[in-house]
Amino acid sequence: MIKTKSLVHGIGNAAKTKIYYDLWSNEYDMTLNKWNYQAPKKSANLLLKKVKNKPRYILDLACGTGLFGSELKKLYKDSLIYGSDISKKSLKIAAQKNIYHFLVQQNFEKKYIFGRKFDLVSIIGAMTYCKNFDKLFSNIKFYLSTNGYVIFSHRIDLWKSQKFDDILAEYNNFFKICTVSKPYNYLPLNKDFQNKIKIRLVLLQKL
Ligand SMILES: C[S@@+](CC[C@H](N)C(=O)[O-])C[C@H]1O[C@@H](n2cnc3c(N)ncnc32)[C@H](O)[C@@H]1O
Repeated sequence: MIKTKSLVHGIGNAAKTKIYYDLWSNEYDMTLNKWNYQAPKKSANLLLKKVKNKPRYILDLACGTGLFGSELKKLYKDSLIYGSDISKKSLKIAAQKNIYHFLVQQNFEKKYIFGRKFDLVSIIGAMTYCKNFDKLFSNIKFYLSTNGYVIFSHRIDLWKSQKFDDILAEYNNFFKICTVSKPYNYLPLNKDFQNKIKIRLVLLQKL
């Protein structure tokens, strides 16, 4: 794995992030397991509790090697799950897991024409890398069918510094806020994160 100062401070621009995750891809699952990364399981539990109709078409943005995708597959075994990520090597690993119906390398700030609408869009563990929420949310809006859901995790320290409540408020004509979860530890067994960096899980429904 290549070194960065600390993941707490992010990685840099999209090109650097891509290289970082490409180089990490082979060890990513093992490392995240070691750091006790719980966001995929907790997000799946939230979906189970709050989303009554099983989504047929799902888009997992920043799917990486498929850690959240595998939770989605357990929950919705008959659904068709599409995935995209900026890291081609992570996608290669995801492809071996028999989760995704379709995978594509794509920056989530750029629109991709999948040729269909989705009942659920997810972006777990990756909001940290978003440089332009307008672009991301307008893409999500485009991808979702009416009444479709988006679930994402976001770090609370960044939430505060980015005034993320105000960002969410800009979209209240387009999305209803269904859940903003209590704080969870993000990577509790990583020495830089421990119990200092927490996330919330957010579920929105497109109006
Ligand atoms: C912490 S991993 C999370 C992966 C997966 N969702 C999970 O829960 O294991 C963050 C992922 O975001 C991806 N990523 C970062 N910036 C991105 C961007 N601008 N567009 C698409 N993917 C991006 C990385 O390549 C990486 O796979």
